Amino acid sequence: MSNKTFALSDELYEYLLSVSLREPEVLRALRDETAGQRLSRMQIAPEQGQFMALLAKLMGARRCIEVGFYTGYSALCVALALPADGNIIACDVSEEWTAVAERYWRQAGVRDRIELRLAPAIETLDRLLAEGKAGTIDFAFIDADKENYGAYYERCFELLRPGGLIAIDNTLWSGKVADTADHEQETEAIRSFNRHLYRDQRVELSLVPIGDGMTLALKSL
Ligand SMILES: C[S@@+](CC[C@H](N)C(=O)[O-])C[C@H]1O[C@@H](n2cnc3c(N)ncnc32)[C@H](O)[C@@H]1O
Repeated sequence: MSNKTFALSDELYEYLLSVSLREPEVLRALRDETAGQRLSRMQIAPEQGQFMALLAKLMGARRCIEVGFYTGYSALCVALALPADGNIIACDVSEEWTAVAERYWRQAGVRDRIELRLAPAIETLDRLLAEGKAGTIDFAFIDADKENYGAYYERCFELLRPGGLIAIDNTLWSGKVADTADHEQETEAIRSFNRHLYRDQRVELSLVPIGDGMTLALKSL
């Protein structure tokens, strides 16, 4: 028997959730509401949100960035794991989805931990760098338009402190990255990004097969 990570059957996935997912009611409600939205598949998996919260706690994160928050689920998972003076700079371009996110962040009592930046994320990240925030961020999560992953990663890398962590979502892209017949633009963008990351000696690397695949890149000390 190979010791590679195995595929999860529906039954095993339900079991995994039943013995490990401790989703607060507010997150559950946000997930339920988002399920009725178009593009609800963009939301991260709940066990992935819990894993990100654990990572944030593990590293004592206080300063965070999220690139692409949609209706706010992943940002809320991390915000709930931060100390009271912790903060997330949350980047997106959609006012419609932001309204949903803000409602749940407020309901969860963490609205003051989340700083909204509604603008193309490259502009926001460049502005943060121009404001002198390089080397100050503990944890960054990238989950926006795939064609810009490389640009987001380089900027987040500059913003990260040594020992800080970048998590990048969708790096397995529903398995399409391994389908040699698939040449869609987003698939190619993720393949190219994954190759770039693999060669990047400035980070410690792990691609975790959780959700749609989440790569962790730790900025070397
Ligand atoms: C996959 S969704 C994020 C899902 C979210 N992390 C969650 O768990 O619910 C991607 C988000 O990226 C945003 N986005 C797309 N292009 C963007 C850009 N150029 N700058 C900032 N955000 C962008 C979209 O509006 C969308 O909300």
